[in-house]
Amino acid sequence: MSVDAVGSVDEVLELLRRGAGFADEEDVDQLAHALQCATRLEAERPDDRELQVAGLVHDIASIAAPDNPATHAPVGGRMVRGLLGARVARLVSLHADAKRYLVTTDDGYRATLSRRSLETLVAQGGLLSAPAVGRMQRLPELADALTLRRADDAAKVPGADVPGLDHWEPVLREVATAAGPLS
Ligand SMILES: [Fe+2]
Repeated sequence: MSVDAVGSVDEVLELLRRGAGFADEEDVDQLAHALQCATRLEAERPDDRELQVAGLVHDIASIAAPDNPATHAPVGGRMVRGLLGARVARLVSLHADAKRYLVTTDDGYRATLSRRSLETLVAQGGLLSAPAVGRMQRLPELADALTLRRADDAAKVPGADVPGLDHWEPVLREVATAAGPLS
């Protein structure tokens, strides 16, 4: 899957708005899912704007190019790296492997996954090998990636009342400004 990098916050907002038309076979559309995920992270980590924004955009590749569950995480990371910075990109890139890590290492985790997440788990490679678990454990972003992943899994509540994109636009601009000019 080849998807262009996003060039501006307006482009991110436009893609997220488009997500209202995609449900990815879940009970919530992609925009509602993104907003719920970011809202959960804001409640949990109010000072970590990058983590919240990573939650907001983590499935952006699934909106830009639907039906690519195996690659949407790293593709999404590449899409946002220039605009939103390396840490946001890493957290987006890791969100499918974070699911694989949790299924492999946490006995109770699989039961928390939605039907669709269990289906895509297979396409994403299923359980991690022991060396892959070790590589994940050496990543400095692992704890944050797992926090994002658990917010992602919980952000599938039909009809949940959460702030809309108006709330997130200034946060996106703040993170984009901190990330520096596009190169
Ligand atoms: Fe998601």
